[in-house]
Amino acid sequence: MKKIGSQVTIAIDGPAGSGKSTVARRVAETLGLLYLDSGAMYRAVTVLAIQNELAADSPELIEQVKACHIEFADNGKTILLNTKNVSVQIRTPAVNRFVADVAKIPEIRHEIVKHQQRIGAEGSIIAEGRDLTTIVFPDADFKFYLDASVTERAKRRLAELQAQNVDITLAAVEAEISARDEKDKTRAHSPLRAADDAIIIDTTDKTIDEVVDFITAQISKDEGCSK
Ligand code: DC
Repeated sequence: MKKIGSQVTIAIDGPAGSGKSTVARRVAETLGLLYLDSGAMYRAVTVLAIQNELAADSPELIEQVKACHIEFADNGKTILLNTKNVSVQIRTPAVNRFVADVAKIPEIRHEIVKHQQRIGAEGSIIAEGRDLTTIVFPDADFKFYLDASVTERAKRRLAELQAQNVDITLAAVEAEISARDEKDKTRAHSPLRAADDAIIIDTTDKTIDEVVDFITAQISKDEGCSK
């Protein structure tokens, strides 16, 4: 495993299915970094809303978000909401449909961003999401924006859902991803966009290994990492 010498912050943004979670996890393992899945935090808040039957923009939900505890275990593989493991619940179709509405509420974003910045201050980190390169860590040492065609992204998400025995068609997944892209890119607060200084990677025809190798090469080049 390569280890990075000084504290380093790597931020990755991109739309759903662009490969950023898988890639960030792999780079975290390779370089010995803390992995932060920021989308999982918005998903956990969405679980909170569903469980308590609260509208995304309800004042009650904002209060609950301020009071709740979201923690990661197992280097980001497990997410705990008020000490309960919600790692499976956050990936359900109900959460997929609702999460973009919850994530567009400024007060909710404010709380989650503060939490992410506290985690980032603790040490070297690779964090991925929609606003990590622009809002959460604007001074990150390395910034990447991953993208892929909507059909390719839908195929990847379909394979993940089928592995969980979710019965859904490619067309339905593509429609859901397109709807979420639209909401993430057009919302008033922290819309998804590539930071001006981010390296853009189109992953449509690339394997995970190729993207991981490219990113680790960029970091190693600048950091002078040794194996
Ligand atoms: O990366 P993901 O699919 O798990 O993200 C779920 C939703 O959360 C996505 O629709 C947008 C939102 N999100 C966000 O607004 N900001 C982030 N930093 C990460 C995710």
